[in-house]
Amino acid sequence: MPLLFLILLLLFHFHGTSAEAPVYTEYMYPTISLSELLYTKSDGTFLQSRNRNFQGQVYKPGTQQTRYYLSILHVPTQTAIWTANRNSPMPDRESRVNLTPLGLTVGYSNGDVLWSTPTLKSNVSALRLLDTGNLMLLDVENNTLWQSFDYPTDTLVTNQSLLEGSYLSSSVASDSDLSQGDYRLDVTPADAVLSWMGSSYWRFSNDLSSVKNQDYPVDALATNDSGLYLLASNGSAVFQILMPTAPFHIVQLGSDGRLKVNSYIAVNSSTSLSNVFVAPRGACDLPLTCGPLGLCSLSASNSSSCSCPPQFVSSVQSSGCTPARESGDDIDEILIPGLPQRFTFQQVEEITGNFRTNIGSGGFGSVYKGELPDKSEVAVKKIEGAGVQGRKEFCTEIAVIGNIHHVNLVRLRGYCAQSSHRLLIYEYMNRSSVDRSLFRLTEKLLSWTERMNVAIGVARGIAYLHSGCRPKILHCDIKPENILLDDEGHVKIADFGLAKLLTPEQSGLFTTMRGTRGYLAPEWIMNAAISDRSDVYSFGMVLLELVRGRKNRGEPASVDGQSKWSTATGGSSVMGEPALRPNMTSVVAMLEGTMEVWEPRVESLGSLRMYGRRKGSSSSNGTIDIEDELKMSKNIGGSNVTSNTTSGWPSFMSENDLSGPR
Ligand SMILES: *[C@@H]1O[C@H](CO)[C@@H](O)[C@H](O)[C@H]1NC(C)=O
Ligand SMILES: *[C@@H]1O[C@H](CO)[C@@H](O)[C@H](O)[C@H]1NC(C)=O
Ligand SMILES: *[C@@H]1O[C@H](CO)[C@@H](O)[C@H](O)[C@H]1NC(C)=O
Ligand SMILES: *[C@@H]1O[C@H](CO)[C@@H](O)[C@H](O)[C@H]1NC(C)=O
Ligand SMILES: *[C@@H]1O[C@H](CO)[C@@H](O)[C@H](O)[C@H]1NC(C)=O
Ligand SMILES: *[C@@H]1O[C@H](CO)[C@@H](O)[C@H](O)[C@H]1NC(C)=O
Ligand SMILES: *[C@@H]1O[C@H](CO)[C@@H](O)[C@H](O)[C@H]1NC(C)=O
Ligand SMILES: *[C@@H]1O[C@H](CO)[C@@H](O)[C@H](O)[C@H]1NC(C)=O
Ligand SMILES: *[C@@H]1O[C@H](CO)[C@@H](O)[C@H](O)[C@H]1NC(C)=O
Ligand SMILES: *[C@@H]1O[C@H](CO)[C@@H](O)[C@H](O)[C@H]1NC(C)=O
Ligand SMILES: *[C@@H]1O[C@H](CO)[C@@H](O)[C@H](O)[C@H]1NC(C)=O
Ligand SMILES: *[C@@H]1O[C@H](CO)[C@@H](O)[C@H](O)[C@H]1NC(C)=O
Repeated sequence: MPLLFLILLLLFHFHGTSAEAPVYTEYMYPTISLSELLYTKSDGTFLQSRNRNFQGQVYKPGTQQTRYYLSILHVPTQTAIWTANRNSPMPDRESRVNLTPLGLTVGYSNGDVLWSTPTLKSNVSALRLLDTGNLMLLDVENNTLWQSFDYPTDTLVTNQSLLEGSYLSSSVASDSDLSQGDYRLDVTPADAVLSWMGSSYWRFSNDLSSVKNQDYPVDALATNDSGLYLLASNGSAVFQILMPTAPFHIVQLGSDGRLKVNSYIAVNSSTSLSNVFVAPRGACDLPLTCGPLGLCSLSASNSSSCSCPPQFVSSVQSSGCTPARESGDDIDEILIPGLPQRFTFQQVEEITGNFRTNIGSGGFGSVYKGELPDKSEVAVKKIEGAGVQGRKEFCTEIAVIGNIHHVNLVRLRGYCAQSSHRLLIYEYMNRSSVDRSLFRLTEKLLSWTERMNVAIGVARGIAYLHSGCRPKILHCDIKPENILLDDEGHVKIADFGLAKLLTPEQSGLFTTMRGTRGYLAPEWIMNAAISDRSDVYSFGMVLLELVRGRKNRGEPASVDGQSKWSTATGGSSVMGEPALRPNMTSVVAMLEGTMEVWEPRVESLGSLRMYGRRKGSSSSNGTIDIEDELKMSKNIGGSNVTSNTTSGWPSFMSENDLSGPR
C-alpha cells in the first residue's frame, strides 16, 4: 500500500508539472496565479484574443534569462505592443502573474509584488483581451475598470490613441531590456514632439510629409488605415501624415530614438508594406548617433561618420567621447544639451576658404559662403561685437536656436565658439534675400504668386517663433534682408533668436535699440515694452513693401535721426496700441483667407504717417501715401484673394503696380 501511494504520488506530481496549463481565449476570471514555468510549451502564452492575433505572455525578450515581463504581443510580428512591468522585470521563471478581484499583479515567487494595476473602483470579474490588442479589466457589469491602451509603453497600434499629456518612451533595448530609455514622444496641445533628456529633435508639425488641416488644439495622436494623425477633441485631424492604406499599423519609438510606422497588409499578417515611415530620417538627426559628446557628419555615401570635438578622444568604455585630459571651460559648453555640430575656427576657415566669398552683411556681422565636408553649401555668419557674451551664454542661446526646426526658418547646422570667435553656420539659400528680388533692378522680378508665397511663408515662420516655441522667441529684426529664398521656392527667415546674442538680457535688450529703422515698431523708439506685436508691426512694413515693390523709406536713418524723430512725435501718447495689432497666428489665417481681415483703426494710422516722414527733406513733407497703401493692403488676404489663390494677389493690382524693369 505505501508503494502504491508513492506511485500515485509520483504519478500525480508528474502529472501536475507536465500537464500544460490551459491557454485561455479572450477571457480569464479571477482568481488565477501563473508563471512562465507553467506555460513552457506555449512559450509563456497564457491568453489569446479571439482572432488569435494578440497574446498575453510572460515574455522573455532575446536570449537573456533574468528579465521576464507581462506583455501583450502582436503574434504575426512578435512585437511586444504593451508591457506591464517594464521597469520591474520578474527575475526568474517561477515569478508570478496574479489575477485577483483587486486587479492584476506581477511579483516574485514568494508573493512580493513588483507591479500592480492601480486601485480600482470595484472588484474585477474578468480579464479580457480584445481583438485590437487591448487588455481590459471588467467589473461584474462589464464596465471597463482599467485598460492597457491607456498606459502605452513604446508602441501604439491601429485603434489606440495617445492622449494629449501622455507619452511613449523608448525601451533601453527592445530585444533584451524593456526598461524605460531616454527618448520620448510627447503629445502636447500643439504638436507631437520627440525629445531626448528634455531637448527636442523632431516635431510632427515640421515633418516634411506632415500636412496641417485646421487650427484646433491637439487632443490625441492616433493611427488608422490611412496614416498618422494629430486629432482634435471631436476626432477630426489637426495634422496628418498620410501613408499607404493598410488595415494595421504599428507605431513604435525605437531604442535608437527613431519613430517608425510599419504598415501591414492584414492584422493577421507579418507582411509589411515596403514604405516604412521613419522620423527623423537623417543619419545625423538623432541626438546620440555618435554617443555622448560625439560629433556626427554625413559622408558622401549617405552614411554617418563620427568624430570627437577638439580635446576629446573616443571613449573606450562607451560609444562617444571623453575629455583627453582635465580641462574645465570647454566641457561646460559641450555639456549643454541640444547644441548643433561644433566646429573649430580652423575648420570654419577651411569651410569658407579663409572667408573668401562674402555674400552679405547685416546687423550681426558678415556672411560668407562655405562648403561642408559632405559638399553641402552653407552660409557662415561671423558675429561681430559679441565679445561681451561669454561662451557658455552664447552656447545656451545656440542650443535653443539649433533646436528650432520649421520649413520657414533657416536651419542652423553648426557653430564655432573659440576664444573670441563667434560663428554660426546656416543652410545655404541660393536665391539670396527678398530685398534683392524686390528692390534691385537687375534681379528677376517677383511675381504676385511668389510675393504671396513669401508673405505667407514669413508669416508662418514668425507665428511659429511666437507660438510654437518654448520659450517664445521674438525676432526683433524682421525685414526683407532677413527673408531668404532658394531656387526651389522655399521661403525662410534668417537671424531669429539672435536678438539675445549681442548683449546679455539684463543689460536691457528691451530698452536698447535693435532692429532696423523702417521696420521698427513705435514702441521700440518709445522705450516701451516690446512684445510679439512688435514683430507683427515689422511684418506689416514688409508686407507693404512686398505689395509696393519699393522701400517704404528712401534712405536709412541714423540713430540721431531716430531720436529726433521720437522727440518730434512727442512721446508714447501718439503711438498705436500694440495689443490692437492681430497676433501672428491671426495674420497667417488672414493671409490664408480663413479669417476675416480686421478693419484698420483710423487712429493707429497717425503713427504710420509720422513714420513716413523723411529726415531733412524740405521741398516736400515726405509723407508717403501710407493710408492709401493700407487701404489697398487690407484687400490682400480677404476672400478676394482666396477666391483665386492661383493668381495670388488681388486682381485690382495691375502689373503697373510692380516695380522693376518692364
Ligand atoms: C471584493 O473582493 C474582495 C477581495 O476578494 C472581497 O473581500 C470583497 O468582498 C469583494 N467585494 C465585493 C463587493 O464583491
Ligand atoms: C479598428 O476599429 C475598426 C472599427 O471598430 C475595426 O473595423 C477594425 O477592424 C479595427 N482594426 C484593428 C486592427 O483592430
Ligand atoms: C458581460 O459580457 C459577457 C461576454 O460578452 C456576457 O456573457 C455577459 O452576460 C455580460 N454581462 C453583463 C452583466 O452584461
Ligand atoms: C483616419 O482618421 C482621419 C482623421 O480622423 C479620417 O479623416 C480618415 O478618414 C480616417 N481614415 C480611415 C480610412 O478611416
Ligand atoms: C470638428 O470641429 C471642426 C470645427 O468645429 C469641424 O470643422 C469639423 O468638421 C469637426 N469634425 C467632426 C468629425 O465633427
Ligand atoms: C488572415 O485572415 C484572413 C481572413 O480573416 C484569412 O483568409 C487568412 O488566411 C489569414 N492569414 C493568415 C496568415 O492567417
Ligand atoms: C539618404 O538616407 C535617407 C535616410 O535613410 C534617405 O531618405 C535618402 O533618400 C538617402 N539619400 C540618398 C541620396 O541616398
Ligand atoms: C541654386 O541651386 C540649384 C541646385 O541646388 C541650381 O540648379 C541653381 O542653378 C542654383 N541657383 C543659383 C541662382 O545659384
Ligand atoms: C491670436 O488671436 C486670436 C484672436 O484674437 C486668438 O483667438 C488666439 O488665441 C490668439 N493666438 C495666440 C497664439 O495668441
Ligand atoms: C503733407 O503732404 C501731403 C501729401 O502731399 C499733404 O496732403 C499734407 O497736407 C501735407 N502736410 C503738411 C503738414 O504739409
Ligand atoms: C471683394 O469681393 C467681394 C465679394 O466678391 C466684393 O463685394 C468686394 O467688392 C471685393 N473687394 C474688392 C476690393 O475687390
Ligand atoms: C484666377 O486667376 C487666373 C490668373 O490671373 C485666371 O486665369 C483665372 O481665370 C482666375 N480664376 C478665377 C476663378 O477668377
